[in-house]
Amino acid sequence: MIDCDVGVDDALALILAFHSPELKVEAVTGVNGNVPLEQVFGNIQKVLSLIQPKNRPIIAKGADKPLKGNSVYAHSVHGKDGLGGTQIDLREGEPWWQLFTGRADELITKMARQYPDEMTLIAIGPLTNLALALQRDREGMEKLKAVVIMGGAVRVKGNVTPHAEFNIYSDPLAAKIVLGSELPITLVPLDVTQQIALTPQWMEKRVKPIHNSFSRFIIEVTGYHSPTCQFRNKELIHLHDPLAVGVVIDPSLLSTEKLSIDVETQEGEHYGKISETEEGPKIDVCLGVNTKGFLELFVSRLG
Ligand code: RIB
Ligand code: CA
Repeated sequence: MIDCDVGVDDALALILAFHSPELKVEAVTGVNGNVPLEQVFGNIQKVLSLIQPKNRPIIAKGADKPLKGNSVYAHSVHGKDGLGGTQIDLREGEPWWQLFTGRADELITKMARQYPDEMTLIAIGPLTNLALALQRDREGMEKLKAVVIMGGAVRVKGNVTPHAEFNIYSDPLAAKIVLGSELPITLVPLDVTQQIALTPQWMEKRVKPIHNSFSRFIIEVTGYHSPTCQFRNKELIHLHDPLAVGVVIDPSLLSTEKLSIDVETQEGEHYGKISETEEGPKIDVCLGVNTKGFLELFVSRLG
């Protein structure tokens, strides 16, 4: 299952996940992050209407604010609506999902208990829902087979402040709870995700020629125009969240080190910074990536 804050790269991660036979996406949950929760949840439905998954995943709304502190949002990166203004018709009567009436953290532990030691949770937004699930039902969370988290900047600069990455910075207390929980975590930080980018060259040579609804969606959601005027507001698009899905599809694409990680939760210059520590549970931190191998995987699954 996937916990997300649909935004542009979250949407691309969902496409990759549903288009990969190695995975069966049973559930998608939303969390306050790139844009407010209600917008995130509407975006999940829009992207599922594009993907049209046959197994109709269960979807649930989660936290609408961090455990502590204020929401940050990232409208400048993802646009006002979180999908770069991309228009997707939500055709009535064709729900490509099943609505869970409870909260996301309740669905997360329900699925973990339903599929003990089988369910992988991929978290590609702030970790608020995961922290709430741990606080309410740690035993349930311990039935997860694996937890893959896109977040943090270990040995590189942050992307919100020089020290902090967006998903961690958005809810540092939640991140501290989750990363210190002893769950089987693989962390996919900016150290590797910033090595994965859709460039104008990749768009021209490998995405545009696909000529289907997904390639057209990527062009629209990233605001790509042409090799000269590039993307809406950037020279390239980092595939942060899709790489977290890629780790589950083909772990050989990344190399990891076992590290103990702590999170700065005190307000100030280092708020949301993650640091390597001597003590605390070890997690697998991805620090190397086969960039071309992942990009080939990603583009191959758009067909
Ligand atoms: O720092 C990148 C992360 O923050 C991605 O998950 C992106 O969607 C934003 O949420
Ligand atoms: Ca995200």
